[in-house]
Amino acid sequence: MLKLAVLVSGGGSNLQAIIDEIENKNLDAEIISVISSNKNAFALQRCEKHNINTNIINPKEPDFENKLILYLSEIQPDLIVLAGFMLILSEKFVHAFNGKIINIHPSLIPSFCGKGFYGLKVHEAALEHGVKITGATVHYVDEGTDTGKIILQKAVNVLDGDTPEILQKRVMKEAEWVIYPQAIAMIARGEA
Ligand code: GRF
Repeated sequence: MLKLAVLVSGGGSNLQAIIDEIENKNLDAEIISVISSNKNAFALQRCEKHNINTNIINPKEPDFENKLILYLSEIQPDLIVLAGFMLILSEKFVHAFNGKIINIHPSLIPSFCGKGFYGLKVHEAALEHGVKITGATVHYVDEGTDTGKIILQKAVNVLDGDTPEILQKRVMKEAEWVIYPQAIAMIARGEA
């Protein structure tokens, strides 16, 4: 069974999708810890409800990344899942867990990704550009921003009248919550 450490900063709806698929027995994995960079993240309430171990890190502390590396080295997850984690991790972190970190990005990489493309900004850029199709991408994390090997992608239609908020919600519902658990299942089966 794949042991997961999930890193969050906010709502945790992707975390919830993973929890649901584990509980529905569609995903042979166990969440051994959820680590939040924000003590008020709603994701933490989801963990309480599902009895999942949590840990809070404070990114304002100078040594926070070393502490995070130390903690993850102690609990030894098979996979580190970034699920709305709002911090960019250093090369040191990536090298410490090489090939074991995945992320979800709310666009079809290589569109609307890289530095500065996070949260609503991604959907604002897609609407500004006038694309008719967007989507989400699950990828391995390497030293770059959104540059690691792609595991899964799913397309989502952009509709007339979409606002960034409406589009964000559709991308989450139709793509992110579907492909993140699927990608983890692929890794669990040794297919990615
Ligand atoms: C998602 O849109 C994800 O693609 C991005 O951050 C958002 C996190 O949402 N990386 P949630 O915390 O999983 O609800």
